[in-house]
Amino acid sequence: MAKTLILSVFSLLSILLATSYALPLSTDSRWIVDESGQRVKLACVNWPSHVELMVTEGLNEQPVDAISKKIRDMGFNCVRLTYPIYLATNDTLASISVRQTFLNVGLPNRTIAKFQAYNPSIAVVTSLGKNKVMVILDNHVSKPQWCCKQTDGNGFFGDKYFNPELWIKGLTNMATRFRDNPYVVGMSLRNELRGPNQNANDWYKYMQRGAEAVHKANPNVLTILSGLSYDSDLSFVANRPVSLSYTNKLVFEVHQYAFSNGRVWEGINVDEVCGNMTKNLTDGAGFLVDQGFPLFVSEWGVDLSYFGKRDKRFTNCFLAWMVEHDLDWALWALTGSYYLREGQVNAKEQFGILDPKWTHIRNERFLQRISVIQYPRQGPEASFRNKHKMIFHPLTGLCILSKPGMEVQLGNCSKSNHWNHTPENTLEIKGSYLCLKAQGLNLPAKLSTSCRGEGTSWAPISDSKLHLATTLSNNSTACLDVDSQNNLITTSCKCLSEKNKCDPGSQWFKIADVSDLISS
Ligand SMILES: *[C@@H]1O[C@H](CO)[C@@H](O)[C@H](O)[C@H]1NC(C)=O
Ligand SMILES: *[C@@H]1O[C@H](CO)[C@@H](O)[C@H](O)[C@H]1NC(C)=O
Ligand SMILES: *[C@@H]1O[C@H](CO)[C@@H](O)[C@H](O)[C@H]1NC(C)=O
Ligand SMILES: *[C@@H]1O[C@H](CO)[C@@H](O)[C@H](O)[C@H]1NC(C)=O
Repeated sequence: MAKTLILSVFSLLSILLATSYALPLSTDSRWIVDESGQRVKLACVNWPSHVELMVTEGLNEQPVDAISKKIRDMGFNCVRLTYPIYLATNDTLASISVRQTFLNVGLPNRTIAKFQAYNPSIAVVTSLGKNKVMVILDNHVSKPQWCCKQTDGNGFFGDKYFNPELWIKGLTNMATRFRDNPYVVGMSLRNELRGPNQNANDWYKYMQRGAEAVHKANPNVLTILSGLSYDSDLSFVANRPVSLSYTNKLVFEVHQYAFSNGRVWEGINVDEVCGNMTKNLTDGAGFLVDQGFPLFVSEWGVDLSYFGKRDKRFTNCFLAWMVEHDLDWALWALTGSYYLREGQVNAKEQFGILDPKWTHIRNERFLQRISVIQYPRQGPEASFRNKHKMIFHPLTGLCILSKPGMEVQLGNCSKSNHWNHTPENTLEIKGSYLCLKAQGLNLPAKLSTSCRGEGTSWAPISDSKLHLATTLSNNSTACLDVDSQNNLITTSCKCLSEKNKCDPGSQWFKIADVSDLISS
């Protein structure tokens, strides 16, 4: 009896540790931290509220509390809640009842009836907070509508619907309105700046003013700045820092999808595309981490209703990059369906993690795979120690673990051995005499105590730098691979050039930094 009690107290404690933060948040170099200095990794999902009707989506299908709990259960600790500026500046628009809004656009009575039954009063932010889900308020557009086109009038300061003064007023109103809710931890100033009028000078002029206005209205929140060209380009910040009157609250954000650069992922040389995307991400925004700023990948996602070739390839490459840098992020999107999107009633969200009824997870396997990036593995030195490496395999979302009998297997990254990648490219388990060794072509890779010579050096090669190549006894080169039964083997390196076109995903690994979290 006593033992069970102790155990349950312990598990409760670990749940508390995992889910409660000493808010508000601030920044400590490239990390987002809480009041006690512990890293808080934002693992968010986007929940749209910015489309035509300005009502948080899904509330006709489920009670808001049920959705909040679901978000938590899926392993997300935060929501990026999108809203249009007009919601915060136009009292007439804001005060129309949901019922009237729905009637005005002729939504079916059934939708209205279900909404009223499930959610007689809506307080989305309150419900999220009650469930310990943090909220980033994201100004997505000015005029409520589906986003984003080059010339939709919402793209850049001065565009038809994007009046900078009204925008500042809206940001101020939103910041003020949620000032007393500690779970509102950040404000994204504006989503995906873009279009013919975009330019860096106006970006500084208005983003700095917007950030100051938000900070003045609510000094607790992180102020999050998006780049140009659909939030892919912050390169100009490298040589001209953002100038603000306050410190430790500035975060940058970046977006990346498989479709961000047209149809590149459907091309021939997948390995080179991955190398290019990684370079683009680094030059466009990733460099900010090295300059000491947190980077929030506030939109990424894939078509989960189909999950085709290009999304599969993209996901492998993208997860490797995310694991390497241990960035904060928000998946697009929670949405199962929209009340009304671009004229379509009950429009399905192909990228949604929930099904159109907002009840089931659309792709469990995908959620499992991304759980690897839901937990922090690096952080400020005060709360992390024993720096080492893990060997991550993005295709499975798993890491290389030792197993009895000098063998290795794929398993949960949180159970990873403490690997060391030596200057000679040996992959050894720290504090042991064991290293990873190839046994020959198409044979399992194993652990060995003879850690020099053939089969023991693993060099990241190729454009993606994700192939781990080694030299076998006959002087031929082979790459670490995972077969269809998830066994670690070495096979001939594949897809290294346009000549042998294929998908190298099974041969992609990322040797990434990890530290042990010091739990208090
Ligand atoms: C507020 O929205 C209503 C309805 O769309 C519109 O008629 C009105 O002009 C708006 N008011 C302001 C001040 O923008
Ligand atoms: C929907 O509700 C309105 C007002 O309650 C009513 O006038 C109308 O007839 C209803 N429409 C249908 C199709 O049931
Ligand atoms: C990768 O980028 C290089 C340099 O910009 C370009 O020449 C090459 O075509 C790109 N490769 C692919 C496969 O898109
Ligand atoms: C990288 O950026 C260049 C220039 O913007 C673009 O043409 C290319 O398609 C991008 N490549 C990838 C893989 O994102």
